[in-house]
Amino acid sequence: MRRLKRLAGEAACDYVKDGMVVGLGTGSTVHYTIKKLGRMVGGGLRVIGIPTSIKSENLARQCKIPLSSLHEHPNVDISIDGADEVDPKLNLIKGMGGALVREKIVASVSRRLIIVIDDAKQVSRLGSKSPVPVEVLPFGWSTVLKRLEKLGMEVELRKSRKIPFVSDNGNYILDCRVKEISSPKRLESRLNNIPGVVENGLFVNLTNLVLVGTDMGLKTVR
Ligand code: 5RP
Repeated sequence: MRRLKRLAGEAACDYVKDGMVVGLGTGSTVHYTIKKLGRMVGGGLRVIGIPTSIKSENLARQCKIPLSSLHEHPNVDISIDGADEVDPKLNLIKGMGGALVREKIVASVSRRLIIVIDDAKQVSRLGSKSPVPVEVLPFGWSTVLKRLEKLGMEVELRKSRKIPFVSDNGNYILDCRVKEISSPKRLESRLNNIPGVVENGLFVNLTNLVLVGTDMGLKTVR
């Protein structure tokens, strides 16, 4: 598994060119991207990274990748990120690593979004394996949970060591199991319409390219 993540994560660096502003995603696959990018920077590549989480920011700093913010660099040339599920239309579920809000903001201003996964993440329909993470304000979280249950979902407050998991933005995450996601776009806006919801992990029509690590080698899906 780690080998496949590494294969995809490192392959994404081939798409990074000198002078680019690069969105740095979050997770164990992009970990390999950031590390390789660090080695490329050590070899003379000039890039500016926009991290999507404190974890990725810390790793990028360790790797000596110059960093900036969306305020200073509002246009991102390329973003590289992981995913929890990818469907045949390249729509995604993201956020099991808890960084979905910043990831979606950075993806939304990126000219290109490259997703790096191992082949266990490819599904024929979103929601087959992963819940849809929904980031909510701590104020009124249980009210939002009830609203989501009324939509027919099985909802769980994400916990870390028995207490609520808190995102980099200071929010909670509700993991929502959905029986059947027939329209990811419709569900995405429906979820975001609930007062108290900050953002959800459905990424629709944002991805340009998926690099998949498989036992047979690297697979590219456009
Ligand atoms: C974090 C994410 C991650 O990209 C996603 O969970 C995949 O992670 P990994 O590469 O560790 O499997 O969306 O919010």
